[in-house]
Amino acid sequence: MTLKDDKSFTNLELGAGCGNFGTQFHPKCYLTDGCDNKLQDRCKNNSIHWFCKANELPWGSDRFNSVIICNPYLYGFKDYDHSVPLFTEILRVLKKQGTIIIIGTKNNKFCPETRIVKTANKALETLNSFTYEFASEEFVAGTEYAGYEFKTIGNAIISPPPSKRYIIKINKIQTESAT
Ligand SMILES: C[S@@+](CC[C@H](N)C(=O)[O-])C[C@H]1O[C@@H](n2cnc3c(N)ncnc32)[C@H](O)[C@@H]1O
Repeated sequence: MTLKDDKSFTNLELGAGCGNFGTQFHPKCYLTDGCDNKLQDRCKNNSIHWFCKANELPWGSDRFNSVIICNPYLYGFKDYDHSVPLFTEILRVLKKQGTIIIIGTKNNKFCPETRIVKTANKALETLNSFTYEFASEEFVAGTEYAGYEFKTIGNAIISPPPSKRYIIKINKIQTESAT
């Protein structure tokens, strides 16, 4: 199957699972997930536009304003073998000035803050001349994402829901000092 790319979709969610977080809170968002057959069993009415691994995306470079990851599980930032190829691929598909948004529960070992920061640095070392700003914040899911049910990989509702958000602003524009 060939991807029919609608350029008006400027946001991308990875590992969307049975949910539709991206389309609800970041309109014009493609929903993707790395798991196809198993996901069909898990959630019959999934909204996935395209099945692909988060570190093997079928889009060209400099394509999206933002890449969203919501509660990554079985992939993400647990170790460098996962996180560097993932981060490198996200950087590739982001526009010159783009944003990575990661939502996570504090105890999710697949998105610890220290590893996200270290990975960003490590991936950026190999892609010199990029810069980034990292911020993390607490949020109340029931207020900011009212009505949305965050789910585990087994499609159970996560309780308490995610409460931590990481925002990484990427700048791929080469500055004179970086040349
Ligand atoms: C905990 S669920 C989160 C689902 C949804 N984002 C949410 O918050 O409700 C993790 C999702 O990541 C997907 N996943 C696992 N490994 C992946 C990979 N390498 N690339 C993309 N998605 C992956 C799983 O299939 C699953 O749907």
